[in-house]
Amino acid sequence: MNRLEELSRQNRENYERYLKRMTESIRNSTKGFLPIMARQGKRILDVGCGSGVLLYAIAAENPEAELTGLDLNEEAINSLRASGAPFDLIHGDFLKLAEGKYDTVVFSSILHEISSYCPEESRRFTEGPIDDAFAKCREIMEPGGTILIRDGMLTDPEEQNAPAVISFKKPEDSEWLYRFQKDFRGFDNMDVCREIRDLGDGRYQVGRSFLKEFLCTYTWGPESYEREICERFGILTERGWVQALGKNGFSVETVTKSREEYEKFLSDRVVITNADGTPYEYPYMTVILKAVKR
Ligand SMILES: C[S@@+](CC[C@H](N)C(=O)[O-])C[C@H]1O[C@@H](n2cnc3c(N)ncnc32)[C@H](O)[C@@H]1O
Repeated sequence: MNRLEELSRQNRENYERYLKRMTESIRNSTKGFLPIMARQGKRILDVGCGSGVLLYAIAAENPEAELTGLDLNEEAINSLRASGAPFDLIHGDFLKLAEGKYDTVVFSSILHEISSYCPEESRRFTEGPIDDAFAKCREIMEPGGTILIRDGMLTDPEEQNAPAVISFKKPEDSEWLYRFQKDFRGFDNMDVCREIRDLGDGRYQVGRSFLKEFLCTYTWGPESYEREICERFGILTERGWVQALGKNGFSVETVTKSREEYEKFLSDRVVITNADGTPYEYPYMTVILKAVKR
């Protein structure tokens, strides 16, 4: 059992709530693009299908599709089965999938998990496990098949340590910033500034990449902390995603970037500015890519 399965089992109630929140966000978030992009495929695999929300959304857009959902989380698959979900459902690790042929493979918010929970510590938070996922796609897809990805984006190196200043509407929440600094291992082998400069009046100066990952954890609240602290949402930069797909035999057709809705979720909890006090522009959080197997 890997760390992700362990966390989901130990914390079953939280995991259910977490999936519910993910589900609620689909209509407003970039996830809403994926069903539209999946209109063409016949045999479609949703990897890390969780609550099945995307499968239902794809079925609505593409009634002819033969849909399969796969998830490492047994509870998620069992509850989809128990609810009579009209899809083929597989419980297991995508990287160990042994059979099946698909025209379209969808990865919504899962590739960063595959990297973040890689059992080999030296490969964790690297591109390696994402390459493994693309290699698996090559096995289960014919040329011309489509990969759809929605995932986090790493800030470009030249911007990642640019300073930003955060203050909390509840001053005691600054404790979460320090907890994150202590607990988050996702930047260990990177040249990312993890320093927190206490400016003395409830404001804290941090680097842009550090802040972005902190906000991913903070947005989900204390109940998801154990899980979120294990994950780095931004594994690859925009260019990194395109290169990783290219070297694994996929040609990227479209790239869409989004700042997601973090600003909306966070505006009543934090104030963020640039170091000079000017308004902060949230960095791109999410990227959506469509790529075709050569
Ligand atoms: C962040 S959730 C995303 C759920 C859904 N795709 C969405 O967009 O709302 C990631 C899901 O991927 C699953 N997952 C993570 N690693 C996996 C793997 N190696 N194989 C299959 N599923 C995996 C998790 O159990 C979880 O349900």
